[in-house]
Amino acid sequence: MDWGLKNRLSRIIQPDTGRTVMLAVDHGYFLGPTSGLQVIARTVRPLIPYADSLMLTRGALRTSVPADVDIPIVLRVSGGTSILRDDLSNEDITTSMKEAMKLNACAVAISIFVGSVHEKETLTNLAKLVSEGEDCGMPVLAVTAVGREMTRDAQYLSLCCRIAAEMGAHLVKTYYCDDFEKVVETCPVPVVIAGGKKTPEKDALKLAHDAVKHGAVGVDMGRNIFQSDNPVGMIKAVRAIVHDNTAVDRAYGLYRESAKG
Ligand code: 5RP
Repeated sequence: MDWGLKNRLSRIIQPDTGRTVMLAVDHGYFLGPTSGLQVIARTVRPLIPYADSLMLTRGALRTSVPADVDIPIVLRVSGGTSILRDDLSNEDITTSMKEAMKLNACAVAISIFVGSVHEKETLTNLAKLVSEGEDCGMPVLAVTAVGREMTRDAQYLSLCCRIAAEMGAHLVKTYYCDDFEKVVETCPVPVVIAGGKKTPEKDALKLAHDAVKHGAVGVDMGRNIFQSDNPVGMIKAVRAIVHDNTAVDRAYGLYRESAKG
């Protein structure tokens, strides 16, 4: 791995803890103005001080994040479908590596859809992106998107994460599941988890806790932070879990105390 790529990765996975709190606000790329992200800038601004990186599209970045803000950017570069379609797997690369460099991204992110109709295209797109990324020192985050017909179990998610790593991904984002340690153990690159659909705050904190306990290097969490009644309290609590190994009850207390404030 060359110096530039290592340097970019070290801005995402914090060298002092080996962990990361990535804030995902890329949902609009196929969901449009989804709940909590109707006005991206308003949602993101108060959360930036507590995030290690921000995952979003080029359109959201250019319009909604001031260029003088010091936050590593994980640029979503795949898309091309909307929630109106039954098959969300028909994605292509939507943003070039050159543009990712111009936007000073620290990594690019692409979804793969293992087991879907467009499995092959999404995997070969990942492999091409990795080759371009390695030419420029740009890490690639592979997101293991799960179609409605797939079961989020360790067998399926291990398959997805391992294929992503074998295609050359430097970091993999997946879902937490029972026997998650098997997913991590068989994936030779660091794994972060998505938060998934909004759940009660304590459940989302337990998810983050269990994920890092079983080997994830952190979270790339969206809805369970920005759809919370107290997004700042929530991201502070997630940070405490990921970086300080804070227990769930204590972290939940931080969320509630912050709510009072
Ligand atoms: C979909 C994505 C997301 O848009 C997003 O990053 C998911 O985050 P969360 O599940 O925590 O809301 O990657 O595949």
